[in-house]
Amino acid sequence: MLKLPGYLVALILLSSISCKQEDTQNAARERISINDDWRFMKYQSSDESDSLIYDVRPEVTDTQDDKAADSKPTEAIEVSTNMAVLKPWILPTGNEFISDPSKKSVRPDGNPGGTYPLVQRDYDDHTWELIDLPHDWAIQGPFFEGWNTPVGGGMGRLPSPGVAWYRKTIEIPKEDEGKSIFLDVDGAMSYAMVWVNGHLAGGWPYGYSSWRINLTPYLEIGGDNQLAIRLDNPPNSSRWYPGGGIYRNVWLVKTDPIHVAHWGTFIKTNNVSSKSAEISLTVDISNNSDASHDVEVVTSIYALENGTSERSFVKKFDRKTLVLSPNARHSVESSVILENPKLWGPPPSQKPNLYLAVTQVIRDHKILDEYETQFGIRSIEFDANRGLIVNGEPVYIKGVNQHHDLGALGAAWNDRAAERQLEMLKELGCNAIRIAHNPPAPELLDMTDRMGFLVVDELYDCWERKKTPLDFHLIFPEWHEQDLRAMIRRDKNHPSVILWSTGNEVGEQYTDEAGARVAAKLRAIANDEDPTRPTSASFNYAKPDMPITAEVEVINLNYQGEGIRNAPAYAHLKGINTPPLYPKFHDKFPDKMIISSENSAALSSRGTYLFPVVDGISAPISDSVGGDPAQGYVSAYELHTANFGSSADKVFSSLDMHPYVAGGFVWSGWDYLGEPTPYYLSRSSYFGLIDLAGFKKDRFYLYQARWRPDFPMVHILPHWNWPDRIGKITPVHIFTSGDEVELFLNGKSLGRKKKKPFEYRLRWDDVIYEPGTLKAIAYKEGKEWSEDMIKTTGAPAKLKLMADRSVINSDGKDLAFITALILDENNLEIPNAAHSVSFTIEGPGNILATDNGDPTDLTSFSSPTRKTFSGKALAIIQSQKGQAVPIRITATSPGLDPYTLTIESAKDGPLKGVNK
Ligand code: GAL
Repeated sequence: MLKLPGYLVALILLSSISCKQEDTQNAARERISINDDWRFMKYQSSDESDSLIYDVRPEVTDTQDDKAADSKPTEAIEVSTNMAVLKPWILPTGNEFISDPSKKSVRPDGNPGGTYPLVQRDYDDHTWELIDLPHDWAIQGPFFEGWNTPVGGGMGRLPSPGVAWYRKTIEIPKEDEGKSIFLDVDGAMSYAMVWVNGHLAGGWPYGYSSWRINLTPYLEIGGDNQLAIRLDNPPNSSRWYPGGGIYRNVWLVKTDPIHVAHWGTFIKTNNVSSKSAEISLTVDISNNSDASHDVEVVTSIYALENGTSERSFVKKFDRKTLVLSPNARHSVESSVILENPKLWGPPPSQKPNLYLAVTQVIRDHKILDEYETQFGIRSIEFDANRGLIVNGEPVYIKGVNQHHDLGALGAAWNDRAAERQLEMLKELGCNAIRIAHNPPAPELLDMTDRMGFLVVDELYDCWERKKTPLDFHLIFPEWHEQDLRAMIRRDKNHPSVILWSTGNEVGEQYTDEAGARVAAKLRAIANDEDPTRPTSASFNYAKPDMPITAEVEVINLNYQGEGIRNAPAYAHLKGINTPPLYPKFHDKFPDKMIISSENSAALSSRGTYLFPVVDGISAPISDSVGGDPAQGYVSAYELHTANFGSSADKVFSSLDMHPYVAGGFVWSGWDYLGEPTPYYLSRSSYFGLIDLAGFKKDRFYLYQARWRPDFPMVHILPHWNWPDRIGKITPVHIFTSGDEVELFLNGKSLGRKKKKPFEYRLRWDDVIYEPGTLKAIAYKEGKEWSEDMIKTTGAPAKLKLMADRSVINSDGKDLAFITALILDENNLEIPNAAHSVSFTIEGPGNILATDNGDPTDLTSFSSPTRKTFSGKALAIIQSQKGQAVPIRITATSPGLDPYTLTIESAKDGPLKGVNK
């Protein structure tokens, strides 16, 4: 029985007598960040690790991780053992996501690990590292160099595998007596198992899911409580860098035993127009008490001013009454019509307007819980001929694929680092993101809502059939329903999410009816959880007449649309080989929309141009053309691709020739850690339009020219510093949003060229190099549109630093991204400078990481010294908490004068979640 303080009783009585007003002071929900001050310890070698395993793993016989991305995934593996494993105690954590009651797990008796020293309250962990979350234990390296290393290029050469422990003491005050208390983990990589005061409370194996543990039964109220979390990241378990650790936010949630359930609201918008919209709301209420109760549920809708925290009241749903049985969950539904709604839609033609629903659970005029749901009002249609239609308007998908890492910061979530990625994608003209190939940090979707990106939310990179020996195929049979429902339940109120993808290029494409059955099962779960959005899975192999293709509601094609290895330059290559397949899919499924969910897979090292330049528009990388295996560089003329890929130019023409295709997602928006095709000895990818440090490659401008046709721009490549090429042919290529360009070398016209149909770059392939000035004047419909000029520079003379923002928040989390440039004495940026730059800092900030975007650079990201690559280096500075004074960053480089830049760290600096 809950004891109430006297003043509250008085208040309740008063309110029940006077009017139908609720006591807002006692809304019990608290969501407390518990990111700070954890103790962390990782075993140095696998021999040392304890035996508290989640499950046994198959022996790994094949550790090769430089396979082509489109190699056929192999058979599912079954392992049996007599060893004691903790899985039976972990499985019940997922019960709330299993719909068939008979399939829910029953927790066995016993408390495995309960006597293990590391989970004890009195275990002395003071020698462990003191860290704050989000935390990625592997990002500081060192990188493993060479062949046959414990972690190879595929997973980014960083020490992400291994077993580690996190411990934290949390105080639960007396006032929390009677409350329900939960631990919410947004993501932990991987196989998390949680002990509370020595009791195994649960866990979750999939490193990309968000999950909740009910701590209530294990807590001591009015005292200190010990959390101990064990993670166990397998080697050979990913095709990219997974990171390691509790790499997302962690929360303590306290509620009344009667509360809105975990992710317990679902807002659907129907009959949407600018005149009105029907908003229907389902609220799930959990009653964790042993008694039955009558409650009322009231939800108010507020309009949110985008870019501020201001809200204005719009409307209330009807008050609903509900009888809650003991220890049960109940749903209540209601709906309202909203006049003149402000719709959510992607810019530039629409605005991402948002609303907030505030739900109160009330008993006897006392507010037991208050729960907020942000949502948007929009309609989405998937039209097989017109493509995606948002609020009645066709919106062409100009998308990128994005992995989860934040470059030199690794997997550890940081609001500003992610926001910077999205800001640059906006500048590119991108309006859509496919989250490859796993659910993102929840905050990312808050940002995509606010900034107006369309999102494909994807669950897995494999189902039952593995791609790497110890990837998440191991947990698929027992966890797919929980992972899929958890993703959808968490993300379904985000207007930015338009489509669920259950998998990427899964091995089940190769298994006919058996594979189709798995696809159908996942689709049914997704449809059941969310009837408002369709479901897909991306196919790089399945053909229109294969059974699996009938099991998706939107056709997501990877590479097959424009054809794989079908152009002359690719004819000699082995592997999947298909003609352009858009027409065949369109004919076979005339009612299903097609998205090019992954295309291009073009490669380049920023600012590094190799000669000769190929004649055609698309060619695979080879050691003699386009690639420099000795240096590990790929030419930035932006014509070369992975063996199965197609250049941007080829992809654009294929999309334009098949206008019923809804648009697509390039692989990839940003470079990412791992998968360094074609140079396995490197640490990070070559696929991005933007490099790992956040510097734009030339390809950025090729996409910007297409995606922002109204933005006047013209871009010249290569740079014009070629002392060894005087008198030699040095092709010049131009990307422009105009339709015609005149090129000048040292004032002399090299001719005016116009884009032909299905042509996306203008090329002057016979320019004879002479130092000086290259100038491009672009025209659109005969009128001058934009101009670009590049010059041969002089010798290095100066350093320069530039910050992405001059003021950051002094919250201990915000970041400044500082770019170092090498200039000549005329202040021209030297595009090929390779200078060692050292950063130092004065004032309340830390140098978190440095980078330069060079995939071959194996200097630790934590090094304060970094060589400029193609003229640029980056330092990432983080504010220190609470210290609102300037931060001075100084860069030095041998032979050059030091340069100091000052930025402000202010309490009221740019706020998270607010547009700047
Ligand atoms: C695709 C795969 C992506 C990535 C890409 C580039 O086949 O879906 O995850 O590997 O190739 O290699």
